Amino acid sequence: MSAAVVDLRSDTLTRPTPGMLEAIAAAEVGDDVYGEDPEVNALESEVAALFGHEAALFCPTGSMANVLGVRAVVPAGQEVLCDSMAHIVRAELGSHAVVGQVTTRTWQAARGAFEADVALAMAVPDAGPYFVSTAAIAIEDTHNFGGGTVQSVDELRRLRAGAQALGLSVHLDGARLWNAHVVTGVSFQEYGSFADTISVCLSKGLGAPVGSVLVSSAERIAEARIWRKRLGGGMRQAGILAAAGRYALKHHIERLAEDHAHAHAIATALAGVDSSIIEPELVQTNIVATTWPSATAAQAFIAGCTAEGIRVGAVGSRVVRLVTHLDIDEAAAGRAADVLPGIAKQALTA
Ligand SMILES: Cc1ncc(COP(=O)(O)O)c(C=O)c1O
Repeated sequence: MSAAVVDLRSDTLTRPTPGMLEAIAAAEVGDDVYGEDPEVNALESEVAALFGHEAALFCPTGSMANVLGVRAVVPAGQEVLCDSMAHIVRAELGSHAVVGQVTTRTWQAARGAFEADVALAMAVPDAGPYFVSTAAIAIEDTHNFGGGTVQSVDELRRLRAGAQALGLSVHLDGARLWNAHVVTGVSFQEYGSFADTISVCLSKGLGAPVGSVLVSSAERIAEARIWRKRLGGGMRQAGILAAAGRYALKHHIERLAEDHAHAHAIATALAGVDSSIIEPELVQTNIVATTWPSATAAQAFIAGCTAEGIRVGAVGSRVVRLVTHLDIDEAAAGRAADVLPGIAKQALTA
């Protein structure tokens, strides 16, 4: 390998920037299980205010924030509806069932694009003694396995109105809501109005090393705090992590547009080989989900990338994901866009 490795497996791979390290070093900390960590308390009130909700809870991971968020709105034995590629149902290892005692029913959605009517039509809010009652609908924005899809804001509005009419709650897995905001320009206050519980992640595009925040009413967050501790998520002097998150919120949201441009450039280069691998106009944010004609071709592409010092990740037998982030600068994205078409041509002959 001649040049530095370009790691496009995930936007969770970033390392703290010098400015973020300074913020971490300067963090004033206390024991957060006692509610005495000033950085954590500040982060929680800032994120709650950002979304126009009463309270927030700093969590170690997005998965925990989702589990606490869903269980806050779905009683044991009832169901949450979501799409079949949602992170909560595909990649949280059954925790909503194991921990939350919640069942799930799913709808199919091309690229994870949300349609309110499809979700609302499945809901059975008060199913009586024979069927499972629906308590909530969960949406993901942007949609990870859908390829970074930004949800239609009109559909989110329609969901909110429809869910309210049926007495259902809405959980928003907003791990990459920051990316959606940069594309749509919709304010976080407005996004906040679409859901009862929202999880947002600081350790993906925003580049903090660890942490997610669950946002909701004061009552739900008070209970989620008990459950966080119950699950072993009470983090003591977590202010060093919260400080990184607060820094990221101040400095790393608007720059996500660069990640989106880099992803688009990579997608355009690959589409130049064969547009069935990826359609660049579908790449709205920082995720390029390429689809290969066979598992063999997908594996050949991954191997070819590795040989060239470019790391990419399989997220299905024929789907390979490339994700841009804070540690992929113009030069790294340019190198990927230069080298990937040759690798793709080879892979398609495999
Ligand atoms: C959409 C979405 N939600 C939740 C998560 C979970 O985050 P964590 O890895 O911090 O548990 C991820 C992680 O990739 C994600 O993509």
